[in-house]
Amino acid sequence: MCGIMGYAGGKRAAEIIIEGLSRQEYRGYDSAGIALRCEDEIVSAKIVGRVSELARKVKELPKKCAESTSGIGHTRWATHGGVTETNAHPHESADGSVVLVHNGIVENSREIKSRLESEGVKFITQTDTEAACQLLAALYKKTRGDALESMKTLTAELRGAFALVILFRDRPGEIWCARRGSPLVAARDGSACYCASDPTALLAYTRDLFFLEEGEMARLSPEQCEFFGFGGEKKRKKTIRLNWDSVMADKGRHDHFMRKEIGEQPDVLRLTIDTHTILAEVAMDKSLALPPGLMKRVRRVQLVACGTSNYAALVARDIMESFDNSLDVSAEIASEYRYRNVAGGDDTLAVFVSQSGETADTLAAARIARARGTHCVAVTNVRGSTLDREIDRAVLSLAGPEVGVAATKTFMGQISILAMLSMALLKDRGTLSAGDEARLIGGLRSIPALQQSIIERENEIKTLAEKYAGSGGFFFIGRRECVPLTMEGALKLKEIAYLPSEAYAAGEMKHGPIAMLDEKLTVVALVPDTDLREKTLSNVEECRARNAPILLLVSEGDEAARAHATDIFFVPRTEPELFPFVAVIPLQLFAYHVARALGRDIDMPRNLAKSVTVE
Ligand code: M6R
Repeated sequence: MCGIMGYAGGKRAAEIIIEGLSRQEYRGYDSAGIALRCEDEIVSAKIVGRVSELARKVKELPKKCAESTSGIGHTRWATHGGVTETNAHPHESADGSVVLVHNGIVENSREIKSRLESEGVKFITQTDTEAACQLLAALYKKTRGDALESMKTLTAELRGAFALVILFRDRPGEIWCARRGSPLVAARDGSACYCASDPTALLAYTRDLFFLEEGEMARLSPEQCEFFGFGGEKKRKKTIRLNWDSVMADKGRHDHFMRKEIGEQPDVLRLTIDTHTILAEVAMDKSLALPPGLMKRVRRVQLVACGTSNYAALVARDIMESFDNSLDVSAEIASEYRYRNVAGGDDTLAVFVSQSGETADTLAAARIARARGTHCVAVTNVRGSTLDREIDRAVLSLAGPEVGVAATKTFMGQISILAMLSMALLKDRGTLSAGDEARLIGGLRSIPALQQSIIERENEIKTLAEKYAGSGGFFFIGRRECVPLTMEGALKLKEIAYLPSEAYAAGEMKHGPIAMLDEKLTVVALVPDTDLREKTLSNVEECRARNAPILLLVSEGDEAARAHATDIFFVPRTEPELFPFVAVIPLQLFAYHVARALGRDIDMPRNLAKSVTVE
């Protein structure tokens, strides 16, 4: 949600900033802008639309701007004020002394604005950000150009969330930053400093990054990255090394990041198994270092997350529950958990799952759980993210950088790591037998090849997707281990194809939703060959009787199921608990090809942001 890029060095700033913004396009945005120090002035360019259009506009700036060696850029995802060029960042103070970009929400912007307006300051945008910009200019004037002092007062006065990156007109080569609530990362490479919202924007320069903590500021120049607390005290910061490189965040031979990332899932699963098992044993419990005996005494495990991460949590809940019903395992939506009076304390283990590690609701939920004395574990894909740093026991999912807004390989990373974590916890508790552990690990080891075999049948799925792309909407139905998959399948279609799609536990259809069915709504039913096959097929028949076309996903070899289907896709057989690891692939490919058939913007769907850093 909003992307920031800043550069102070010796190279052409415009190119570096545009490249950094392009690498953060996936965060979601509607407009973009840049401010460059061009000799003695700061020159801005803004557009409504894509970063590529901004790049074209930058080429039309005065010639001296092409040689500029410092500047800041921004992609805006509108919260306050419409999507217009005026509201796009950077914003410039009325006196021209300050130019600033912002990610977050300034909650007291109205108060600040009316105060400054009463002092004669003219506002020109509808954004909350302009209040921060004009306030900083007023403070800078009042302190006679003391940047640190002005930043101290600014950060004390602003309420809400912000990552601010600032140019002062009379401080050439300097960039000032401040962070509370919204992510910001800085880096140094030779004689340049950089900052960005997202580490992927900096990977082309270095993998050693300074993650700004809550309440930290920075002054970046070609010579050094300096850090301060909001009180102005100097801070020494260590870099964190990311085990990613910039090639991982390239599309390669694919048309879309999403398609590339779907194809990477067998490797993600392999890497997770290899990292967390020693021969036939899950080894994660040691690296987690939970208090001795904790798993024997906890009464409940809460898996807390948003969106696709929540569905990954549901998969893990089902795995844990299937081996141990003496433990109360729940998957909780973070935006609800944070406002409910949820049980917690010493007998509770909460696992916070977030790909980005920056989702505002998940972070807030984790802070609440910690305050209740609940034992907390984080599962995130981004080393150095806020969740990783705030929760002592953090386990990384091993998906590598994901650029497509729709989560695919990070879902695989999450369910893989959560499966290992579940096994480790149950072993500690004494409720997972060696036989079941070996069966699950064996099952997981066989899955990458099964996933690959589905990816090789992509054309089959493409044909189905093209046939059903004109459908008026979709119901995804299934039972037990398939329910999280119905949710994920429906979410993918909503996100990238913008088609109405609902997920229902198959047994729930006749309690209401079945009333909607007719020949225009397609039912996608997940029916693996388990003890629930017959029951689910009965639900499918109920839908068929209402003329809904039926697309069945069934276990390989279940030819008898054809009788219930308009179209059928055979999913390779696996251990019943592990069906989601295999069946999610055709669902992702189906959504991808429906969206392609409809000409959607697959990697950057409208209205969405990759990481939701505001509430
Ligand atoms: O970074 P997180 O895992 O915390 O993000 C949670 C959701 O915002 C995310 O999964 C979202 O639902 C994706 N767009 C799903 O494709």
